[in-house]
Order: sequence, then structure tokens, then C-alpha cells
Amino acid sequence: MSADSSVQASAERLRDAWGARRPKAAVVLGSGWAGMVQDLEAPIDVPYGELPAFPPLGIAGHAACVRLARLPRRPDGGAEVSAGADVMVLMGRQHAYETGDATAMRGAVQTVAALGCPVLVVTNAAGSLHTQWPAGSLMALSDHLNLVQRSPLQGVTGSARFVDMAQAYDPQLRARALEATARVGATLHEGVYAWMMGPQFETPAEIRMLQRLGADAVGMSTVPETIAARHAGLRVLAISLMTNMAAGLSAETLSHEQTLRAAAANEQRAAQVLCAILQSIVD
Ligand code: HPA
Repeated sequence: MSADSSVQASAERLRDAWGARRPKAAVVLGSGWAGMVQDLEAPIDVPYGELPAFPPLGIAGHAACVRLARLPRRPDGGAEVSAGADVMVLMGRQHAYETGDATAMRGAVQTVAALGCPVLVVTNAAGSLHTQWPAGSLMALSDHLNLVQRSPLQGVTGSARFVDMAQAYDPQLRARALEATARVGATLHEGVYAWMMGPQFETPAEIRMLQRLGADAVGMSTVPETIAARHAGLRVLAISLMTNMAAGLSAETLSHEQTLRAAAANEQRAAQVLCAILQSIVD
């Protein structure tokens, strides 16, 4: 099956499952963000295995399905229009570090666009490069450093592949996200995310390098999805949940278990913030 026809087949399978319902935004869930699905109503799940453009998933702790579901009503009693808006949640991602393939999520992102969904919200867990942003801090990406220098558009043809990456992270969506986060009494920082291939964590020397390059957070995802989304014409908002201070910035030993523990400890608040942000975006 060609890449294009697998995207069309995936979109068709989702449309069949959804009937007349359509999402107003799509979300890719990273570690620590899965709690938001519990706040959604009337879910319809389609496993990635039934969607030919979606990746097979290997990493434990990640469900592998697309969930269409309704956002809850806004608790502040405002904006009735947001009640019942559907969102499409991509529960699980394939990372480039698993296979060396930065195109892993391209088909999934293109399927979002093929469904006519205008916005992609990408979430992740990240290491913090600021001592004043401890584990549990949230950051909206204002920009990124693609230090891996790989592209999800490898193999794509046509002039559209030369994507403008200035303002890849939509300033208007970010402004809405900042307001929505403040409304629920939380803080959303803004900063630059450095993509490192992993799966090993960084060395302290690498973290000092990233600080000098102007990065505020470091992680192993999100950048390929954002590039694919911009190519597909989607507006992008991306948010990091800091699960640890980056290597050398604290005495803590980094491990995947530690990342998952910190992610779990902050899951409820992250979920609340994400729901508030989505409500403000689909209004
Ligand atoms: N480095 C890279 N990726 C990460 C980190 C980190 O410190 N924490 C969570 N994901």
C-alpha cells in the first residue's frame, strides 16, 4: 500500500467508526498526559493495528489506539459552545529512537489532516534545563532545536516538503493555552525544546551545551510530529511536562522508571490543564 493510500484507508476506517462525529482537535499523548482521557465522554476507540498509516507500538505503558471523545463542559460555567466538542486522542507514539526512523508518526499525523482536523496538540515528558523549573513544571514550546538533524519528510516529494518552520508552534494557540492554564490556577512556561535522539539520557556536558544553545527543555519526541504536522497544514501546540532536572543539574540518577514515576505524580494536574487548553482551543 502506498503511503498516501494507507493514510486514506486510515481516515476511512476512523470515519466509519465515528459516524457523523468529527474531531475539532487532535492530541498526541506523551508520558504523564494519559490522565486526560478519563475526563472525556462517549469514547470510541480504534486500535492502531486497524489503521495502516499508524505505527506498531513497542513501549510498555502506552495504549495503542485512537480515541474519539467529547470534552467535558467547562466548570466555570462559561462558553457553552465548548460543551460536547469532540477531540481525537492518539494514545501512544513511536519514537525515532526505537527504529532510527524519524518518519514513524508521519502517517498518523497525515491521517489527522486527512480527516479535516485543523489542530494538533503534541504532549511530551521532558528534562528541565532551568533550576527554577522543577519536575512537575509545564512548558509550551515556542520553538525547537532539531539537533538530531533528521526529518519525518525524508522520502516525501514535491515542493511542499520545504516547509517554513518559523512559527512552527502557533502563537495564537499558545496564547490561548497560557490563558486557559492561568484560569485553572497553574503556570505554563514558554521555551525552546531540544530534540535528542536517545534512548540514552544526555551527559552533563551535553546538557551544558544545550543550555548554551538556548534550549529550555530536552526530550526524545515531538519534533518529528511537529514537522510532519506543519507539512500537512496543521496548526501545532506542543507542551512539555518536566519529569526531571536534566543530567548534571541535580543529584538524581535518571531512569525511565523515574520519568514514569514523576509523570504519574503530575498526571492529574497535567490532565486538568490539557482539558482546559483543549476547551479554549475548540471554542
Ligand atoms: N532527557 C531526554 N528526554 C527526557 C528527559 C531527559 O532528561 N526526561 C524525560 N524525557
